[in-house]
Amino acid sequence: MKNTALITGASSGIGKEFARIHASKGGDLILVARRKELLDSLKEELVQKYNVAVQVIQKDLSVVGSSQELYDTVTQNGWQVHYLFNNAGFGGKGAFLDRDLEADVEMVRLNVMALLKLTHLFGKDMKARGKGKILQTASTAGFLPGPYQNTYFATKAFVVSHTQGLAHELKGSGVTVTALCPGPVATEFAKVAGFGGSKMFDGAASAAKTAQKGYRAMEQGKVICISEFQFTFLIKVLMPFLPQSMTAAIIAKMQQS
Ligand SMILES: NC(=O)c1ccc[n+]([C@@H]2O[C@H](COP(=O)([O-])OP(=O)(O)OC[C@H]3O[C@@H](n4cnc5c(N)ncnc54)[C@H](OP(=O)(O)O)[C@@H]3O)[C@@H](O)[C@H]2O)c1
Repeated sequence: MKNTALITGASSGIGKEFARIHASKGGDLILVARRKELLDSLKEELVQKYNVAVQVIQKDLSVVGSSQELYDTVTQNGWQVHYLFNNAGFGGKGAFLDRDLEADVEMVRLNVMALLKLTHLFGKDMKARGKGKILQTASTAGFLPGPYQNTYFATKAFVVSHTQGLAHELKGSGVTVTALCPGPVATEFAKVAGFGGSKMFDGAASAAKTAQKGYRAMEQGKVICISEFQFTFLIKVLMPFLPQSMTAAIIAKMQQS
C-alpha cells in the first residue's frame, strides 16, 4: 500500500468524505468503523472510481483494547500509515446528572481514549520515519463550555488542547498534527446525539466542504482549523470579551433549541 490513510469513522459523514478526498489524490486507505456493510460499499465506490487499494477493518473503538488490536492488525499486515485521521466520535444531549453515565464513559473512551492511543501508536512510527500527518476531528465545542452536552464539549476541549501541545513537541520532526474544529455539520451526528429536528443544525455545513477544509489544513500542517468563518469570529474575537457565564447561557439555549 502507498500513501496510506487510516480513517476512523469512515462509514459516514466527515470521515467518508475524507476517504473520498484521499482516494481522489491516488492514496490508499484503511477504513475503520463498526458498520462493515457501509465500509464495504465505500470501498467498492473508491476502488472502482480511483483504482486505489482499500482495506476495511470493522472495529468498535470504544471497547478497551480495540485501538491496540487495530494497530496490531495494521502492522502485522505490513501496512504503513502515512496519514492518520482520528475522526470517529459521537455526542449526547442532556443535563449531565440526568444522562446515563455509561453513555458518557463510552463517549470518553471513543472521543478521547481511542484518539490518544492511536495517536501514540501510529505517531511513534511516523516520528521514527521522520514523516507523517495526523488529523484529529475536534469541534468548535472544544473552545466552549457545553451545558446540556457537557461531556461531549469536554472531550473536544481535550482534543484541542492535546493537539496544540503535541504540535509544539513535534516541531522539526517531519510529523504534523491538526485539529479540525467544525461547527454544526449535516451528518448522522445530530440524530445519534439526540438533536434530531434541532434548530442548531439549520444551515449546517456540508460534510464534503468540512472535510475539504480539514484535509487542506492537514496538508498545510496547520495546528487549528476552525472550518467556518462565523465560528472563527465568535471564538477568536467575540468570546474573549464575554463573561464565561454569558457564554454558557448562550450555549445552553442553543443545545435546547
Ligand atoms: N456533525 C457535526 O455537527 C460535528 C461538528 C463538530 C465535530 N464533529 C465531529 O466529527 C466527527 C465525525 O462525525 P460526523 O459528524 O461525521 O458524524 P457521523 O456521520 O455520525 O459519523 C461518525 C462516525 O464515527 C463512527 N463511530 C461511532 N462510534 C464508533 C465506535 N464506537 N467505534 C468506531 N467508530 C465509531 C461511525 O461509524 P459506525 O456507526 O459505523 O461505527 C461514523 O462513521 C466526530 O468526531 C464528531 O464529534 C461533528
